[in-house]
Amino acid sequence: MMAHIERAATTGFCFGVKRAIDILTKAAVEHGRIVTLGAIVHNRQVTEKMAHLGIAVAPNLDAIHGDVAAIGSHGVSPQVEAEMKSRFRVLIDTTCPFVHRAQSTAKQMAAAGFKVIIFGEADHAEVIGILGHAQGKGIAAMDTGFIAELQPLPRKVGVLSQTTQIRSRFVAFGKDMVGSLLDKDVELRLADTICHDMSDRQEAALELARKVDLVLVVGSRTSANTNHLVDLCSTATNSRLIETADGLERIPLEGLQRIGVTSGASTADETVDAVIERLKKLA
Ligand code: F3S
Repeated sequence: MMAHIERAATTGFCFGVKRAIDILTKAAVEHGRIVTLGAIVHNRQVTEKMAHLGIAVAPNLDAIHGDVAAIGSHGVSPQVEAEMKSRFRVLIDTTCPFVHRAQSTAKQMAAAGFKVIIFGEADHAEVIGILGHAQGKGIAAMDTGFIAELQPLPRKVGVLSQTTQIRSRFVAFGKDMVGSLLDKDVELRLADTICHDMSDRQEAALELARKVDLVLVVGSRTSANTNHLVDLCSTATNSRLIETADGLERIPLEGLQRIGVTSGASTADETVDAVIERLKKLA
C-alpha cells in the first residue's frame, strides 16, 4: 500500500532568507563579486547556488578578500559591523528584521541597566551578534542553572529569545525565571523576540506531526532552526532530518501509512519538492 504523503502548510525559505537572497542577488549584479561573513543561510544547496552568482562565503573577517562584503541574515555584533565598515568599501547588510528586533531589544535592556539573558545557543552566530548588542551585559542560557552563579544577583534582569527557538520552551524558561527571581527583589523584564515566520512554521510542523507516522524535516544539520523543528516534531512522532532527497535512502519507510514533510527556514521549496517526488516513488 502506498503511503499518504503530506506537506506542512509552511515550507521553503522564510521571509528573512528570501529577503537576504534578494538583496545579495541584486547587489551582485551591481558590484560583481561579494563575500559574506559566515553562511548566507545555513544551507549548502543555497550557498552553492549563490556561488554561481559571484557571492562567496568567508568563515572570518581576515578571509574576506575584495572590497565588497556582506553581513548575513543572522546579523553581527556592533563591534564586527564597525570593523567591516572600516575594512570594506561597500558593506551590504542582510540582517533579518526579526534579528534586528532582538538586537535592539538587547541593546535597550543593557542601556537601561538590565543584565540581559538570551534564551539560545551561546555558539550560534545570531546569539553571538545579540550578545554584542548587550554591551557585555549579556549571557546566553538554555536553562536557569546560571542564576546560582550570578553573584551578587543583579537588581534588573531582562530576558529575550534567539529568534528561532521553540516558543513553548521559551515560555517554560520565562516561567522558571519568574519562579526563581520573584521573591529576590529583582525587576524582571521579558520580551518575546521569537520570529513570527518561525513560530508559524513550528505550529504547522507540530500539527502535521500529530497526524503522521514519520516527519521528514528537510534542511541542513548546521541550521539551528531545522534542528529545533526536528526536536519539536519528535515530541509528537518519529522525526528525521534529511538534507536532500538522497537522504531518503537511509530512512526505513516500510509499513508507514502517513509521512509528513516540512523544512527549515533556509531550505528552498525546490529541495522539498524533490524530496516529495522521490518519496512518492519509494513509499
Ligand atoms: Fe528571520 Fe525568522 Fe527567517 S528570524 S531569517 S524570518 S527564521
